[in-house]
Formats: sequence, structure tokens, C-alpha cells
Amino acid sequence: MNAIKTNPRILLTGSTGQVGGVLLKMLPMMSSELWAPTRHELDLYDPESITAAVQRFNPDIIINPAAYTAVDQAEDDVENCYLVNETAVKHLAQALKHVNPNGVFIHYSTDYVFDGTKAEPYSETDATNPQSIYGKSKLAGEHALADAGLSHLIFRTSWVYSLFGKNFVNTIKRLAVERKELTIVSDQLGAPTSALEIATVTLLAIKHLQMTPINTAHSMWGIYNLTGKEMLSWYEFAQKIVAQMNLDSPPTIKPQLTKDYPFKAPRPLNSRLSGEKIKIFTGSPQD
Ligand SMILES: NC(=O)c1ccc[n+]([C@@H]2O[C@H](COP(=O)([O-])OP(=O)(O)OC[C@H]3O[C@@H](n4cnc5c(N)ncnc54)[C@H](OP(=O)(O)O)[C@@H]3O)[C@@H](O)[C@H]2O)c1
Repeated sequence: MNAIKTNPRILLTGSTGQVGGVLLKMLPMMSSELWAPTRHELDLYDPESITAAVQRFNPDIIINPAAYTAVDQAEDDVENCYLVNETAVKHLAQALKHVNPNGVFIHYSTDYVFDGTKAEPYSETDATNPQSIYGKSKLAGEHALADAGLSHLIFRTSWVYSLFGKNFVNTIKRLAVERKELTIVSDQLGAPTSALEIATVTLLAIKHLQMTPINTAHSMWGIYNLTGKEMLSWYEFAQKIVAQMNLDSPPTIKPQLTKDYPFKAPRPLNSRLSGEKIKIFTGSPQD
């Protein structure tokens, strides 16, 4: 028996989000038994709704890109942030373990679990020290999943963008035509990551585990960094986005230091995550 069976029953949360939206399009390639419930069918604020949905569908895999992702808003909305990022993860995992003890839970986390003070890119084993409510709640979600005792993968990603949704790329594209001058933070370093890449690697990992005997998969469960290859600052990223737009009169882009920018939630200055470990699934360098 392999770690993940062929044509697994997959419950996908957050399918209206950036990563969930791409997964919704790609997962039918590997399963004819995909259920992506609406918020009405699965409300992550409501533990009873979670348990009922998992019991009803009886999945082999839960893929959970749903999250409370409003980083600044979370500082004033602590309870709701933890409800989605920690409590819901705990209830999803417990419900899966109850209906299917061999079930697999695939989850997503963030560079915000680190304080950003390391000079080099973070590895999966580096000590965490989140500074924001969002980062703390996502780390609590990682722990809740690990504590549930299920086979699981946690992909830590950063600076996610996609064609749709609220993200840096779409914001800069809009502002570049609206304004003559943009001021962008230049001392936060990280790796922009497309939702398409995250979804692609998720499918590669599932395929890999479909070819791995259950008794040898043990060492593969756990945390993986999953980010784009290019590491740069937000300022450099904005320059690239605007250059690709080929505007007749592009805006001037000015650098600004984080300390001079009125962020409500603290940001890690170093968000870079090492891409070594994920090569087990991708077979290619990520950094
Ligand atoms: N965005 C980033 O830059 C970034 C960076 C690092 C890590 N991550 C992590 O990557 C993962 C995917 O992020 P993303 O950018 O794809 O997120 P996103 O676009 O903000 O989507 C979040 C999804 O969660 C759903 N959701 C939120 N609260 C819910 C609730 N109470 N019940 C049901 N569904 C709920 C949303 O549904 P509605 O549409 O109904 O609100 C939406 O589908 C998350 O784990 C996130 O923490 C993201």
C-alpha cells in the first residue's frame, strides 16, 4: 500500500483564494473525487460545520489553503484570526483522523513564523519567533496539525501572487497607471511565489507519495519551504513589475525603509526561505 492512493477523495478548502483557486483548476487532473465546499457548506469559524463536512465527505486528503490572511487587520481581530488559522486546522485534522486514520493533511504556512533577523535564508529547522498576530496564529496552526498525529505536509510559502485576488503584483499594476510616483519598502527581502507554482508543487508531492510505500513515507511528512526562485526586495520586485508593463510614462519608484512605513503588524526584514528540502518533490533547485 502506498502513502496516498490513486484517485484519492480530496477535500479542498479556500477555493475562492489565490492558492485554492489554482488548486481547484488543477486537482481534477489527479482526482475525480474532489469537493471544494463553499463557506456556506464549510465555515471555518464553526467547529460543528467542520466536523460535519469532513464526516459527510470522508476524504483521503484534506488540502487546506484557506486562512485568515489579512495581516494588519489581524492585529485588531485576534480571535477570528486564531479561529481560522489554528482552531479550524485542529478541528479539520481531528475530524480527518476520526473518519480516516490513514488520511493525509496538506497545509500551508508562512515566512511570518520567523522574526526575520537571520542573515541567511531560513531552513525548515530554524527556530521560529513570530512577531505578528498572523504569524503567531499560523505557527499555532502548524503545531495543531503536528499534534493531531496525522500524516501531513506543511508548505511554508511567502509573497504569494496570482492573476486574481489582492496581492502585491496586482496592487502595483493598478498604482503604476494611477500615480506618477510610488514609494516601496526596500529593506524587506523575500521571494515572490506564484499560486501556480504552489499548486504545481502540491500536485508533484501528491504524485510522489502515490508512488511511495506507506512504511517508507514516514521521513517525508513534515514542513517544507516552498517559494519562488528569485530573492529580492519589495522595491526591486515593484521595479520588475512596472518594467514588464511597458508603460509610455512609468511612475518613479522610490525606496523607503520599513521603520518609516506605517505597518500595523511587524514584518520580518528577512523572509527568505531555503529551497533545499523541497527538491525531494520537485527534483529541481528552488533557489
Ligand atoms: N498571500 C500571501 O502572500 C501568503 C504568504 C505566505 C503564506 N501564505 C499562506 O498561503 C496560504 C494561501 O494563501 P492565499 O493568498 O491563497 O489566501 P487568500 O487568497 O487570502 O484566500 C484565503 C481563503 O480562505 C478562505 N477563508 C477565510 N476564512 C474562512 C472561513 N471562516 N471559512 C471558510 N473559508 C475561509 C477565503 O474564503 P473567502 O473568499 O470566502 O473569504 C479564501 O478562499 C495560506 O495558508 C496563507 O496563510 C500566504
